[in-house]
Amino acid sequence: MKWGVVKPEAKPATESTVKPAVEAGRSAALYFSGTGNTRYAVRRLAQGLGMPEANVVSVEDDRRLAAAALATADTVVIAYPNYMCVLPKIMSDYLQQHRARLEGKSIITLVTYARFSFDADLLATRLLRKLRVPFTEHSGIAIQMPFVICDMKLLRPTEAEAATELRARADAKLDECAVRILGGDVIHDGRPWMRPLAFLRQRMFYQSRIQKDFSGLRVNSSCIACGSCVRRCPTENLALIDGRIEQAGRCTQCYRCANLCPSQAITLWGRAVQWQYKGP
Ligand SMILES: Cc1cc2nc3c(=O)[nH]c(=O)nc-3n(C[C@H](O)[C@H](O)[C@H](O)COP(=O)(O)O)c2cc1C
Repeated sequence: MKWGVVKPEAKPATESTVKPAVEAGRSAALYFSGTGNTRYAVRRLAQGLGMPEANVVSVEDDRRLAAAALATADTVVIAYPNYMCVLPKIMSDYLQQHRARLEGKSIITLVTYARFSFDADLLATRLLRKLRVPFTEHSGIAIQMPFVICDMKLLRPTEAEAATELRARADAKLDECAVRILGGDVIHDGRPWMRPLAFLRQRMFYQSRIQKDFSGLRVNSSCIACGSCVRRCPTENLALIDGRIEQAGRCTQCYRCANLCPSQAITLWGRAVQWQYKGP
């Protein structure tokens, strides 16, 4: 089979061949969400597409569940947050390890972002092409959601009112996208001309930082050793040893722990927690 985008053979539309572009029972969604935005968006899109709830699976959950959902699916939604126009490491690792599960599927990518998405909705399909996984590309959707990097003075939080407004806009766009996809439309929020722009503005500086096994997470002296970060870490990177948080160099930089820590003791890129995001 040829790798990359496989164009399905066009069939004349007779009454018996006319069917929705995505069949509800034969679709699944695979997602990663650090702080809840992407989970919120992918669930809404899946609902619009009529996808069974059980087929919406996080890559950090039981791998067998994901395998079962993917096995019978013709269409797979791959959803992730935009990290400087680089795929989060946990998602790129999953796609590399389980590439065989995606062969021949029709793919819809969904990216959530806070300020700019550039070509981020194309990142997962670009990786599949690089891995020589044959797939039928469908659509790439970018949805704006609140910001989650909470330890940098320069990055202002999304105000509560703006967050509500963003969510309403996201809902409307996701519902519209679902209707369009079911009707056979192709959506591409990220355009090929955005690729060099995204490289010059972001990937050139952040590609290696996002894709490496990050171990720059810091825990300061206000840590109360409650273990909440250990329990919630998507990569099992953290452990509580002798009352201290130790890390194993597997951080995917999702900012979940920093946003949830009750004593605001965890930082990744910045030096002090400025505010915390508790999800949509
Ligand atoms: C490490 C990191 C890098 C990010 N880079 C960008 C970015 O380049 N552009 C942007 O608009 N948002 C960026 N964001 C914000 C997230 O993409 C956005 O808040 C997303 O909705 C978070 O999704 P989640 O809650 O599912 O993790 C970044 C967030 C993190 C944690």
